[in-house]
Amino acid sequence: MRETSLPDPERRPERGLTAEALPGEGRVVKEGPSRERLTALAGNSPLLRIDGLVAGYGKMEVLHGIDLHVGAGQALCLIGPNGAGKSTVLHSIYGFSTIMGGSITVDSRDITRLGSNEKLKAAGIAYVLQHNSVFPDMTLEENLWMGGFLMDSPQKAKAAAEKIFARYPLLKERRRQRAGTLSGGERRILEIARSLVMEPRILLVDEPSIGLEPRYIGMVFEVLEDLKRQGKTIVMVEQNAKKGLQFADIGYVLVSGEIAMAGTGKDLLRDPEVGRLFLGG
Ligand SMILES: Nc1ncnc2c1ncn2[C@@H]1O[C@H](COP(=O)(O)OP(=O)(O)O)[C@@H](O)[C@H]1O
Ligand SMILES: [Mg+2]
Repeated sequence: MRETSLPDPERRPERGLTAEALPGEGRVVKEGPSRERLTALAGNSPLLRIDGLVAGYGKMEVLHGIDLHVGAGQALCLIGPNGAGKSTVLHSIYGFSTIMGGSITVDSRDITRLGSNEKLKAAGIAYVLQHNSVFPDMTLEENLWMGGFLMDSPQKAKAAAEKIFARYPLLKERRRQRAGTLSGGERRILEIARSLVMEPRILLVDEPSIGLEPRYIGMVFEVLEDLKRQGKTIVMVEQNAKKGLQFADIGYVLVSGEIAMAGTGKDLLRDPEVGRLFLGG
């Protein structure tokens, strides 16, 4: 087992990623960013805050004490190699993993051990389900109504769906069409739109561009930009590091279940190590 107590923030400078260590075993991140740095990136008032999170699946530990701070209306993008635990961070926020230590708070309220339905309904956190989660035989509008399954009445879900149609004409024009007739990019937008029916404050988005043709990637990011304009707080994982970091206010590099680097999206885009490892240049 790993040492899971919190490291002394005073002793952790901003970066600790070494390329040689990347594929290696054991503790890869020598010194990650300090908690003060993460709080500063979140504008010193995080809406969503993870501290010292140790989490995994069953007995397997995947995240070894990570911190993540994001302010209201900010977008944070996690990048890192396959298997680093990026999706597990989102799973942990939403209640899909086993939490062994640490805390998750929204607006200073401890939500660490709330179930997923409570997270959606009471804490305003929505998880955009990964690709191919639309119901292909249902119409677009029926798919959106499904997004309101936790609402007190179907009328409320329908009213919320109308607001979404008003904002996204692309979906409205086809509201009575079967979702199975949509292109991959349009389906992804429907998946994001469905998560909006509950009017969440925080959206967790895992690999929105994966498997999409380039022209649809732009369309999906336009929708994400629009959500930012609406003041939504976004935590995303994106394997297209360039796109993700261009979009996000904050970027974190996750390596072997630890935060190796953190900065503004722009900082990370300019960082030579990030460039070499994740931007293909
Ligand atoms: N639902 C799950 N059940 C068991 N193990 C999982 C599950 N999801 C991911 N893992 C494991 O957790 C580790 C981290 O995976 P993941 O968070 O998906 O990484 P990433 O998203 O960075 O590629 C991997 O070893 C993976 O096999
Ligand atoms: Mg993943």
